[in-house]
Amino acid sequence: MKDQKLISKAREILNNNYQEKGFTIPCQGLYPFQWNWDSGFIAIGFAHFDMEKAKKEIKTLIDSQWSNGFIPHIIFHNESDTYFPGSEFHQSSLSPLVVNKVPTTGMTQPHVLGFTLERMYHIAENKEDITAFIKTTIDAVYEYSLYFYKHRDPLDEGLVYIYHNWESGTDNSPIWDDIWNTMKSPEYKFERRDTTHVDASQRPSNEEYNHYLHIIEIAKAHNYNDEKIAELSPFLIQDPLFNTVLIASNQSLIRLYELIGGNEDKIATLKQLTEKSIQSFNDKLYDEELKAYCHYDLRNKKLLRYTSSSSFAPLFAEIPDQKRAEELVGTLMDKFGNEDQYMCASFDPTHERYKPKQYWRGPVWINLNWLLYHGLNKYGYNTIAQRVKDDSIEILEKNGFYEYFDARKEEHKNNTAGYGGNNFSWSAALLIDLLSE
Ligand code: DGY
Repeated sequence: MKDQKLISKAREILNNNYQEKGFTIPCQGLYPFQWNWDSGFIAIGFAHFDMEKAKKEIKTLIDSQWSNGFIPHIIFHNESDTYFPGSEFHQSSLSPLVVNKVPTTGMTQPHVLGFTLERMYHIAENKEDITAFIKTTIDAVYEYSLYFYKHRDPLDEGLVYIYHNWESGTDNSPIWDDIWNTMKSPEYKFERRDTTHVDASQRPSNEEYNHYLHIIEIAKAHNYNDEKIAELSPFLIQDPLFNTVLIASNQSLIRLYELIGGNEDKIATLKQLTEKSIQSFNDKLYDEELKAYCHYDLRNKKLLRYTSSSSFAPLFAEIPDQKRAEELVGTLMDKFGNEDQYMCASFDPTHERYKPKQYWRGPVWINLNWLLYHGLNKYGYNTIAQRVKDDSIEILEKNGFYEYFDARKEEHKNNTAGYGGNNFSWSAALLIDLLSE
């Protein structure tokens, strides 16, 4: 009964956020366009009760694909004065690779599309219909995967870089502080919009926004050319969350291609890339002392030695072997698993940079919990996985469908520990998916 009530509220949120043009905004006001990885999670939610909307969501996102396979992070389907920086700042039309005229950003986001398609396949009751849909979309998703290895892997390691913190999805993680410390960005004149919707103390600072804009200006000055960006961007990171999600999507694409038949060459390419990626991932991104996966700073050639929720994402793509997984889960429980905490804080709660109310500097996020839940189950950590799932449901039930949540249980006494945007689409979508398990 309780679950049914939550599910119908979640469905209502998704339906309200769905737009006529065939995409779903993450939430009103704060995020009024289509966001790349949000769309994947949203489609998984819709797949449980409105497959047509789920398919449309994916189709609309893929329609923004550039001729090199790249799929942007925001698609500006409409005008809006509630968001900065909008289409006029990003100027995607500078790139000669743009195909679709709808303006976008010139950066991307974690590639969730492969495993989204596979999840949709498993949820679908009508397998014939979903198979037909997959046949019309899978090559675009494959091209998106290949884009990264062709254009974002300068050392040919099978590890791809991101050139902007907004590509990571974990937008203002304290890990990026190390990069901001290497940069001298101009002071731009701009009017923030996010801080008119949400408490400014929970959002990134203006100084951080100067860095965000500065990197975009560098990319724009070179028409979003990847080679130039790799040469010039002060932010060049091999991110464990980003690479995990890409590998997981590749693994899903392999299984989907096997399912629909043919495509042996693509399957072989994906297998070869994935194997190489996993090898380099384990060699390069694991810190033996922290016993956790970390971010590698390609620009300054060093591992950024911090533990965050991204450190445990590799379980989702079965990157560690069982022995390393055990070590990793030990770190998870030591640092993030205290009984007075909800799982899983986005940044190491024992670290001085931990800020439990600030955007990606500490709070719990439902999409990272969803990845962790599935990752833990893959290695047989069912009890911890169940805790991650129960915690996710409990914080949504207590506080509402917020964007992110305080990890400290004591903060939930008055049911006001949900922060950021409210009626947030992926919180709703993934609740539906978790409750359907
Ligand atoms: C923002 O504006 O904070 C967005 O999350 C960028 O993707």
